[in-house]
Amino acid sequence: MNHLIDIMDLSVEEIDELIATARDIIANPEKYQEKCRYKKLATLFFEPSTRTRLSFEAAMMELGGKVLGFSDAGSSSSSKGESVSDTVAVVSGYADIIAMRHPKEGAPMVASMKSGVPIINAGDGGHNHPTQTLADLLTIKMEKGHFDNLTIGFCGDLKFGRTVHSLVAAMSRYPGVKFVLISPDELKLPSYVKNTYIKDKNIPYVQTNSLDDVIGELDILYMTRVQKERFFNEEDYLRLKDSYILTADKMKNASDDMIVMHPLPRVNEISTDIDSDKRACYFRQTKYGKYMRMALILKLLEVD
Ligand code: CP
Repeated sequence: MNHLIDIMDLSVEEIDELIATARDIIANPEKYQEKCRYKKLATLFFEPSTRTRLSFEAAMMELGGKVLGFSDAGSSSSSKGESVSDTVAVVSGYADIIAMRHPKEGAPMVASMKSGVPIINAGDGGHNHPTQTLADLLTIKMEKGHFDNLTIGFCGDLKFGRTVHSLVAAMSRYPGVKFVLISPDELKLPSYVKNTYIKDKNIPYVQTNSLDDVIGELDILYMTRVQKERFFNEEDYLRLKDSYILTADKMKNASDDMIVMHPLPRVNEISTDIDSDKRACYFRQTKYGKYMRMALILKLLEVD
């Protein structure tokens, strides 16, 4: 059974194949519109989502398939105490593939052990978000043309930002990559991510509190939201939430071809006056996510 729990479940070659499929879907959508006829995708979202859930659903619909599921744990029997394992054992009898988001780290992994159909991790707590990384990788490919020799700045909540953890892992496999980690001390990248994907691989990196000091060196600036829902007390969140706000003024110090990415949702960390800057990619990034999820569904369902 094929599942996608962690971005490292996919080899570099498999990611290249998914990107090639996504690009073919963009160029020739009509070729794909019946590929998943009679197939069903279940979206089990125990945490809120706009992009991930709706792009998965749009992806399956554009492949000719159908969707079912829930967008709120409170409307599922988990609110009566049903376990994730039991939920998945049941739903895998109703659907051909399951995309699942859960606040607990590791829940999709547990689900994959009980599922009779492929499980896709659509975000597990502050841990991983592999399909956001697929969206991010297609964005980088489309906007920069290559993955190697890039200097990528991650800015904001690097502790709880699961999209950062998955993208650091994915980018650590390309030669010449350099990481710039920009965060308050309390929101630094977890040591297990830093050790596994940066230090142990001898990848050059810089750790700093100051975006202004490093913005001019970046090929990619990956902004993130401070993850309110992962904080234990509101006081800390309120103190840290506006640590970085990217403004048009700050963008004057960035290179003309630096791209700004953000997994979204945005709160305050990117001023809306940047949205019209050609370097702002975050809305294009959301569209790329749908195409990569289409490619992933085809791969996991082994559709030719
Ligand atoms: N990027 C992302 O995961 O967005 P949603 O929470 O809206 O799905």
